[in-house]
Amino acid sequence: MATERTLSIIKPDATKRNLTGKINAKFEDAGLRIVAQKRIHLTPAQAGEFYKVHAERPFFAELRDFMASGPVVVQVLEGDGAIAKNREVMGATNPKDAAPGTVRADFAESVGENSVHGSDAPETAAEEIAYFFAGLELVG
Ligand code: CMP
Repeated sequence: MATERTLSIIKPDATKRNLTGKINAKFEDAGLRIVAQKRIHLTPAQAGEFYKVHAERPFFAELRDFMASGPVVVQVLEGDGAIAKNREVMGATNPKDAAPGTVRADFAESVGENSVHGSDAPETAAEEIAYFFAGLELVG
């Protein structure tokens, strides 16, 4: 499988509970390499721009405001088939459906406060990485 990069976000519910290290351990144990990482606090406008694909969804305002409610850790994960692998490690969007041992099964509080985000396809991964990082910040 080809080496890929994917954008990951550790969300405010998880940073608040000091779970960054435990979540990163799951990524690293699965063979994903953290090639860029920073802790930032998004404004509602920045969070809304990131999630603009969901602008028409009924939960958009809740999602935007939650993502701006506290610090997030944005990161780039690299590895063989990293996009799908990260989605496996994260587990299903709704923690009730997430497989045992996944980030969301172990840590997520609800479908909205679900601890992590990960890109869903190569095109979105490229766009999402470019939203947060300059090329020089990615150190493989
Ligand atoms: P994420 O992978 O970050 O992509 C979009 C997010 O929307 C998703 O994770 C959830 O956190 C959020 N989301 C999806 N469905 C709902 C919902 N019904 N209510 C609130 N948030 C939701």
